[in-house]
Amino acid sequence: MTVSPDIQQRITQLREQLREAGYAYYVLDDPIMPDAVYDKLYRELQDLEQQHPELVTPDSPTQRVGDKPAEQFISVQHNIPLYSLENAFDEGELRKWEERWKRQTPDIAETGEFEYVCELKIDGSAIALTYKNGILTRGVTRGDGTTGEDITQNIRTIRSIPLKLSLENPPEQVEIRGEAFLPLDEFERINKERETQGEKLFANPRNAAAGTLRQLDPKIVDQRRLDFFAYTLYIPSDPNFHPQTQWESLEVLQQMGLRVNPNRKICANLGEVQAYFQDWETKRRELSYLTDGVVVKLNSIPLQQQLGFTQKFPRWAVALKYPAEEVPTVVQDITVNVGRTGAVTPMAIMNPVQVAGTTVQRATLHNQDRIAELDIRIGDTVIIRKAGEIIPEVVRVLEGMRPPGTQPYTMPQNCPECNSELVRPEGEAVIRCVNSSCPAILKGSVLHWASRDALDINGLGEKLVEQIVRTRLVRSVADLYGLRVEELTQLERVGRKSAEKLVAAIEGSKKQPYARVLYGLGIRYVGKVNAEVLTQAFPTIEQLQCASVDGLENVYGVGLEIAKSVWQWFKIEANQELVKRLQDEGLRFNQGVENKGEFAGSKVLEGKRFVITGTLPSLSRKEAERLIKDAGGKVTSSVSKNTDYLLAGEKAGSKLEKAEKLNVFILSEDGLRDMLE
Ligand code: IVH
Repeated sequence: MTVSPDIQQRITQLREQLREAGYAYYVLDDPIMPDAVYDKLYRELQDLEQQHPELVTPDSPTQRVGDKPAEQFISVQHNIPLYSLENAFDEGELRKWEERWKRQTPDIAETGEFEYVCELKIDGSAIALTYKNGILTRGVTRGDGTTGEDITQNIRTIRSIPLKLSLENPPEQVEIRGEAFLPLDEFERINKERETQGEKLFANPRNAAAGTLRQLDPKIVDQRRLDFFAYTLYIPSDPNFHPQTQWESLEVLQQMGLRVNPNRKICANLGEVQAYFQDWETKRRELSYLTDGVVVKLNSIPLQQQLGFTQKFPRWAVALKYPAEEVPTVVQDITVNVGRTGAVTPMAIMNPVQVAGTTVQRATLHNQDRIAELDIRIGDTVIIRKAGEIIPEVVRVLEGMRPPGTQPYTMPQNCPECNSELVRPEGEAVIRCVNSSCPAILKGSVLHWASRDALDINGLGEKLVEQIVRTRLVRSVADLYGLRVEELTQLERVGRKSAEKLVAAIEGSKKQPYARVLYGLGIRYVGKVNAEVLTQAFPTIEQLQCASVDGLENVYGVGLEIAKSVWQWFKIEANQELVKRLQDEGLRFNQGVENKGEFAGSKVLEGKRFVITGTLPSLSRKEAERLIKDAGGKVTSSVSKNTDYLLAGEKAGSKLEKAEKLNVFILSEDGLRDMLE
C-alpha cells in the first residue's frame, strides 16, 4: 500500500507529541496534557500503525510492551564491565578511602584541586543500556559485571527510559548505566496483590525489582511499574564528545531525556560529604523510593581515568552506607496466624519499639525452620530489623540475656482455629491447615470474596465476618446469599439499618461480572489479571471446569503453575459444590449476553460491509459477527472491492493480502471496539 506523505507526517507528529508527553509525565513528573488526551493521541497512532504496519518503528511509543514472553534470557558480554562499589560504613573508612586515592595521585593531593559529587545510592538493580544512533537497542542486567542477561524486552516497558534519545545528532553509540527500582507504593501494591493470591511476598523493593526484571513475560513487567535513575554515561564511539566531569555527565544524561536523581551535590571535602550524608539520613524517609546510602565520586573524569579500577571496584568512588536500623526488644509471645490459603505463619509479639520511623510490635518468624535456626523463645531479647526497611523481621536472639526457665518454641501440631491436624507438604517450608471449613480459612475467603476487586460488598468488614463465621451463620461463601436481616440484627452491634444495607449489598453483588466472581473464589495464583484472561478464553465456568492443564497453559499469560492450580481447584468436590450453589444463587459464571450485546442499539456501522479473518485476541468469529450486526453492519465471507473493512486477527492469510491489494481498510479487534464506542 502506498502511504500518503500526510499520513507519514501525522505519524511522526503523533510520536513526537506522545514522546514529549511521556517525558513530562514519567521523567519530569510534570504532566503537560490530561490522560484522556494522551490516550486519544495514542489510539490514533495505534490505528494508523495498524493500517500501515510497514511504518511501525521500534522506537514508536506504541512499541513498549512486547507480545511474546521470552523462553529464556540470553547471556551477553557487557560492552564495558559494570563494577560494583567499595563500601564505607563510618567516617574512618571514608577517610581511609580518601588517603588511598590521594597516595596514588600526590600532585592532586597537594594542590587540593579536586571535588566530589555526592549522589544518593538507589536501592535497586543496576542495568546497562546501549543506544545506537540514538535508539535503545539493548538492556542488560549487571550479572557478574562482565556478563549479564539481555532483558531488552523488559527494559522497554520502563516509561522513564526513552526508546529514543532526545539529541539532534546522537553519537553512534552511547552506553548508559543506572538503577532500575520499584517505588515504595508500587512495591506495597504488588505485595498486597501477591498476598491475596497466596504467593510469597517480596522481602524488599530491591528483590522485587530484580525479580521483575527477570520475568519472562513483558506484560507482567509492564504491570509492575519499574522506574529508573541514570548515573553513568559512556560514549565509546566518540570519546571527544565525552563530558569532563561526572556532574556534567549527569546533566547530559538529563538532556538526553533520562531521569537523573535531583538530590545530588558537589562537595569540596569530606566534611561537606558528611554533612550531605547526615542531611539525607532523615530526609530519605520522605522519598518515594529507598536509598541505602550515598555514593561519593571524584568529579573529574580524567582523574577517574588516572586512578582506574581494582579487581572489583573503581578507586575513584565509594559507597557510604546508612546502617540498617536494628533495635532490641523483648518477645512477649509467639502466636500463629492462619491465612486464607491455610498457610500457618508464626509471629513474634514484642514490646512495641520504633524502627525506621514506625512502631513495630509484630514480626514474622516465617516458618518452623527459621524458628529452629533462631532458637527464639518467649521472654527472649531479640534484635529486630526492617528488611529493606519494610517488613520487620527478627535478626537474632541475644542469648546472654535469656531469662531462666524458657522453653524452645515448637509449632503447634493442630490448627489453632479448628484443631485439625496441620500438614507440611513435601518440599515446602510452610505448614498448612487443609480443612476447607476451618473458620480462619473461611473468614479469609469471605473477606476476599467481599473485597473491592472481587465482589465489592460494602459493609462486610473484618469484625462482622468474624461474627458471622463464629456464630456459624455462614459456613461457606454461598451462605452469604441466604443471610436475612433478622439473623444479622441478632449479632452484637448490628442495627436494622446496616443489616438491611448489607443484605442489599450482598444481593447487588450478583450483578458483578464473571471475572470478578472467578477472582473472588480465591484460587491460588488467580489474581485480577489472570481472572480476566481466563474468563475471556473460557467464556463459561463449564468450559473452564473442563479445561485440561494443557488447555489452560495455552492461554496467553497463564503459566504452568497457574494452570495446575486452576485445574486442581476444580477437581475438589467441595469447590464444585460451591460453584454450583453460587450459580443457583444467581451469580454470573459466564461472559453473559449483556457483554456481547453491549453495543446493540447503536447503528454506527449501518451499511458497512465486513469480512472477518484470522484469530481475534478475545472475540470468537461469531461474537465479532454479532457485534457488527448489532451495530447495523453486514458480514460477508469474501473480500471484494465492495468490502469496507477487513477485521483481521492472527494468522490472517490470503484475505489479508487481497484486502491490501484492493486498499480495503484493515481493522483489529481493538479498532472495531473503538469504532463501536
Ligand atoms: S556508580 C563504577 N551511582 O550500587 C560505578 N551506583 O553497591 C559504579 N548504585 O552496582 C556504580 N545508586 O547498582 C553508582 N548513584 C549511584 C548508585 C549506584 C545505586 C548501585 C549500583 C552498584 C551498587 C554498588
